[in-house]
Amino acid sequence: MSKILAVFGATGQQGSSVVNYVLNDPELSKVYKIRAITRDVDSQKVQKLKGKAEIVYGDVHDRASLETALTGVHTVFAMTVPSWGPGAVEAEYNSGKTIADVAVEKGIKYIIFSTLPSVTEISGGKFTSMTPFDAKAKIEKYIRSLPVKSAFYAPGGFMENFQAMPFMTPQKTADGTWAITRHISPKTKIPLVDAIGDTGKFIGAILAAPDKYAGKTFYAGIMYSQEEIASAIAKATGKTVVYKQVSPEELRKTLPAVMADNFLEAFGFQEEFGGFGPESEEKAAWSTANARGRLTTLEEYLEAHPPQLT
Ligand SMILES: NC(=O)c1ccc[n+]([C@@H]2O[C@H](COP(=O)([O-])OP(=O)(O)OC[C@H]3O[C@@H](n4cnc5c(N)ncnc54)[C@H](OP(=O)(O)O)[C@@H]3O)[C@@H](O)[C@H]2O)c1
Repeated sequence: MSKILAVFGATGQQGSSVVNYVLNDPELSKVYKIRAITRDVDSQKVQKLKGKAEIVYGDVHDRASLETALTGVHTVFAMTVPSWGPGAVEAEYNSGKTIADVAVEKGIKYIIFSTLPSVTEISGGKFTSMTPFDAKAKIEKYIRSLPVKSAFYAPGGFMENFQAMPFMTPQKTADGTWAITRHISPKTKIPLVDAIGDTGKFIGAILAAPDKYAGKTFYAGIMYSQEEIASAIAKATGKTVVYKQVSPEELRKTLPAVMADNFLEAFGFQEEFGGFGPESEEKAAWSTANARGRLTTLEEYLEAHPPQLT
């Protein structure tokens, strides 16, 4: 009998990747039956899942809905969405805690959680604004304390950000060329992952060998320097794109106010501690080697999805 794999965020980037990977994997599709959890069973995005997955209503802010949605589930892939402003860590933490508590209550055998490193802890309190990181790390710590097997997926920056977040893309300069502006060194390497294309390759590895990876974290991404990112975008778009290091004050002006501290610190953390904390490159290399499939390079991603520089 198939095991039910409940997927949170099945209509989003990471969750849809998990769904598509499992459906297309000859081995995993025989073992797991997907239950997509969504707040709106009639949304446009859900239509794509109909006929391929069981669609079930669930909202992390409505505990009773999760009690129904997680009944009979064997494994859960859980992700949470960030909150911003005061109380952000607790708000996101509570979402993850609710999923984990209901999962244990319902006798779920395995939790796979999309986590992130605790930036406050790793930086010794230097960077404290990266609340979505700290919240996920707190959820991970909580899940690890529960009587259930678990494994974790810590994604690097999404390659999709080059389309989804205009302030992450190159900006036009006075001479008509383009520049990626950050306040960090051009040599700073950051991990980048094709969230839609490749999340499933990491979660698929865990689903195929759950005991082997119990307790482990997949740090997902290939490391690229700022200069390498600029030249990959230049190649994909045919435009002149350079990396320009600016002051933190100048960078702040280009960021949405509500997220400015968060992004300034994110870049600072990447420069000082690597995207994943100590031994970032080794963590990414182990995860790439253990993924179930070859990862998409930035060049390949940008060739398929070139940023619109107009
Ligand atoms: N962007 C990056 O570079 C990056 C890097 C690392 C980690 N992350 C983290 O990735 C997460 C976002 O992941 P994503 O891009 O895959 O998500 P996404 O595409 O923005 O989609 C969000 C998903 O969350 C679901 N959702 C939202 N609120 C919910 C609720 N109250 N109850 C149940 N489900 C809910 C939505 O489902 P329905 O609408 O169908 O209900 C949707 O499928 C964030 O936490 C972010 O911190 C991002």
